[in-house]
Amino acid sequence: MTDIKMEDRLKVLISEEEVNKKIQELGEQISKDYAGKEIHLICVLKGGVFVTTELAKRLTVPVSFDFMAVSSYGDETVSSGRVKIIKDLDDSIEGKDVLIVEDIIDSGNTLRYLLDMLNSRKPNSLKLCTLLDKPERRVTDVEVDYVGFQIPDKFVIGYGLDYAQKYRNLPYIGVIE
Ligand code: IMP
Ligand code: MG
Repeated sequence: MTDIKMEDRLKVLISEEEVNKKIQELGEQISKDYAGKEIHLICVLKGGVFVTTELAKRLTVPVSFDFMAVSSYGDETVSSGRVKIIKDLDDSIEGKDVLIVEDIIDSGNTLRYLLDMLNSRKPNSLKLCTLLDKPERRVTDVEVDYVGFQIPDKFVIGYGLDYAQKYRNLPYIGVIE
């Protein structure tokens, strides 16, 4: 009897080179769009942490950071649309040009909730950047300003994305076959 290990089922979907090139492009575009302004980056923990730091290193405008941790209630595979704040922001976002950085947008429920909540705190502007987007899975309307890659409806890991809290540190986007 053979035991199929996780490593044997893991395939590269987007290579490290491709991810780095895309983040460089996003950084250049965002720096251009925010010329003369400051960006207040909001990293959505934990998945967004890798994209946030890699993106921030490529921004040429002044940047400040804050972190927020959220979790979806209930069954993880069927997003309920209800979101729990595990860690709120440290600082006020009133009057700031805020850019939320996410690893992936799936159903869109998490971001829909976050956008509505943060908009009520009166930022000067509020935009959204995600490395990955699974448009087929969207159940709620979310306008994404900056997208790295649109991907098919497959479960992916790496670059912040986990499978049971592991594999976030893979430097590429992998898919479990
Ligand atoms: P949404 O509210 O359905 O858009 O949920 C987005 C969250 O689900 C992401 O921030 C991830 O934490 C998680 N997620 C969605 N798709 C994947 C995946 O393919 N791999 C790992 N985590 C995922
Ligand atoms: Mg996430």
